[in-house]
Amino acid sequence: MCGIFGYLGQQDALTLCLQGLERLEYRGYDSTGVAGITSKGKIALCKEAGKLSELKKKLKLKKLEIAIAHTRWATHGKVTTVNAHPHLDTAKNIALVHNGIIENYIPLRDQLKKKGIPFLSETDSEVIVQLIADSYEGDLLKAVCQTLHLLKGAFAIAVIHSDHPDEIIAASRECPLSIGVADGATETIISSDPNAFLGANWNVLFLRSGEIARAKKGSVEIFDLDLKPLQKKTERMINDTPPPSKEGFPHFMLKEIFEQPSTIQKALFGREHALELKGLSDEDLKNKSQVWFIGCGTSYHAGLLGSMLLEEFAHIPSHAEIASEVRYRVPIFSKDTLVVAISQSGETADTLSAVREAKAHGCQVLGICNVTNSTLTREVDGAIFLKAGPEVSVCSTKAFTSQLTVVTLLAIYLARLRGNPAEPLLAALKKIPEQVAEVLKLAPQIEQIAKKYSSYNNFFFMGRRYMWPTCLEAALKLKEISYVNAGGYPAGELKHGPIALLDAHFPVAAFCANGQTRDKILSNLMEVKARGAPVLAFAPADFYEVEAIADHTIWLPAVIDPLAPFISTVAGQLLAYFIAKQKGCNIDQPRNLAKSVTVE
Ligand code: M6R
Repeated sequence: MCGIFGYLGQQDALTLCLQGLERLEYRGYDSTGVAGITSKGKIALCKEAGKLSELKKKLKLKKLEIAIAHTRWATHGKVTTVNAHPHLDTAKNIALVHNGIIENYIPLRDQLKKKGIPFLSETDSEVIVQLIADSYEGDLLKAVCQTLHLLKGAFAIAVIHSDHPDEIIAASRECPLSIGVADGATETIISSDPNAFLGANWNVLFLRSGEIARAKKGSVEIFDLDLKPLQKKTERMINDTPPPSKEGFPHFMLKEIFEQPSTIQKALFGREHALELKGLSDEDLKNKSQVWFIGCGTSYHAGLLGSMLLEEFAHIPSHAEIASEVRYRVPIFSKDTLVVAISQSGETADTLSAVREAKAHGCQVLGICNVTNSTLTREVDGAIFLKAGPEVSVCSTKAFTSQLTVVTLLAIYLARLRGNPAEPLLAALKKIPEQVAEVLKLAPQIEQIAKKYSSYNNFFFMGRRYMWPTCLEAALKLKEISYVNAGGYPAGELKHGPIALLDAHFPVAAFCANGQTRDKILSNLMEVKARGAPVLAFAPADFYEVEAIADHTIWLPAVIDPLAPFISTVAGQLLAYFIAKQKGCNIDQPRNLAKSVTVE
C-alpha cells in the first residue's frame, strides 16, 4: 500500500513528483522513488529506502517531462532500496508504481521464472511489470490490459514505457486513483489522492474499479477491461490550501493535541439542532432498527463510544465492529440497518471494503470523515465532515475528539427524532471545549509524571463503561508512538487473566472518571495495588478516595459519564506524547506505520 503520483506536462515532472510525494507521504514512508523518460528516450530511475528526504539526498536526475513516483508502506518484502518502487522490467524499458496487493503473485512469479525471467525484489509489484513486458507487442495500453486480466487482488498502478514518451497508463481495481487535467490542457496529473494536486485548477476524474486510463499531456482517455472507450465526467477541483505547519510546536502531534478545544468547537458549530446528512433523510434515520459503527484503530474506538451513546440516548440497538472483520462475519444487515463508517482519512481500505459489503446488503451508509474528496465520502449515502483541518501526525488525536463530538451529536439527533430529547447531553457537550482547555494546562504536570513512567516496557489501562474504549485509545497511543507494550481493559476483566502479568515492573493507568462505576473501580484499584503494580490514576477532581490508593494521580475536570472520554483521552494523549518524547522516538512518523492504511 502506498501513494502513487505521475505527471506529464511542460513543468519539470521530477519537481512535481517530489511535491506530490510530500503530500502522499501519509500513505507510507518506508521508501520513495521516481522514474521518468529522458530526452534520449531511456528510463531514468532513482529510489531509496527511508523517507522522501533520503531520496532527495540521492537524486541526480535531470529535468523530465514525464515521470511516475511512489511512496511505500511495505507489504511484500523488507524496507530496502531494491524493494522500493518504481520497479522495472528486465530490459529496463518499462517502469511501474503500484498501490495494493497482488494476491496471486506467487504462481504468476513462478510462471515467469520458468520462462527465464529474473526477479530482483521480494515484491508482488515486480510481477506486474514483468507480466506487462511479457505481453508487450508495441501497444502499452493493450499489454497493461492483458496483464490486469491475470491479477487477483486490489490495486492501482501507473506505468510508463520508453517507447511511449508521451503517455502514462494507469489502472485501478478497488484502489483510489484520480486523474487531473489542468485548465489549458497542457498538464496531466495522476495521484492516489486528488488532494495532492497542487496549485492550479484541475478537472478531475476518479478511476473506478476495472477502468484503464491513457493519460497524455492535457488529455486522458478511459477504457474498460475490453478496451472499449468510456465517457466519464470530470469534477472541478481547486486546491489552494497551504501545506500544514507545526506553528512553533516541536511536533505535529503536540500541535494537534493543543488544537482540540478549537477543533471540537468546529465539529459542534451549527450542528446543535440538526445534522445535515445529504442523501439520508430524517425519515430514513427514524426507521432504522439497528446501527453498526465500523472503523479501524482510533476510528473504531470512536465507533465503540458512539454505539454506547446511541444505545443510552437514542435507544437504538447499536454495535461497533472493526472494519476488517465485517466482511468475514455473517452480519445481520438489512435495509433497516444504518451503517456508520468512521474514518479520519476516508481512504482506509478495510473500512472501504466493509462499506461496500454493507451497501451490497442494501444498508444505507453514513460516513464520518475528516478529509473532503476522499473515497469514503464519494461512496456513502450521507457524510458528516469533522472540519478538524489536516491531521498530519500518524498518531490520531484531534480527529478522535472530533469524531466523538460528531457521534455525540448523532446520538442527540437520533434521540430527538425518536422522541427522547437529550438536551442535558447537548448542554454538557457545549462545555467540553473549555474543559479540554483545562486538561491542556496539565501538560507540564503530565510531562513530569511521564518521566517517572517512561522506563517501563509494559502498561495496562483500565476503566469501566465509557472509560473502557477510552483505555483502548490510550493504550493505542502509547504503543504506536513509544513502542511500549500497552493494553486497554474493562477494569472488571483484569482479574479474569491479565492480572497475572502484574508486578512492580508493570504499571496500571486507571481511568476513574465513570461515576456510575465508582465503587467498582476503587475495588479494582485495590486488586492491582495488592499485586505490587505501580498505579497512575486519572480521576475527576471530586474522586478523593483514589488518592490513598494510587501512586500518582492526575486530577481532571469532572464531567458527565458519557462525555468523560473527551477529558481522559486528552490526558492519555499527553501521557503517550511525553513518554515517547522522553524515549526519543520519532513521534510524528512512528516506525512501521502509515497515516492512511490503503491495503486490506
Ligand atoms: O483514517 P482512518 O481513521 O480510517 O484510520 C484508521 C486507523 O488506521 C487510525 O485511526 C490509526 O489507528 C491511528 N494511527 C491511530 O492513532
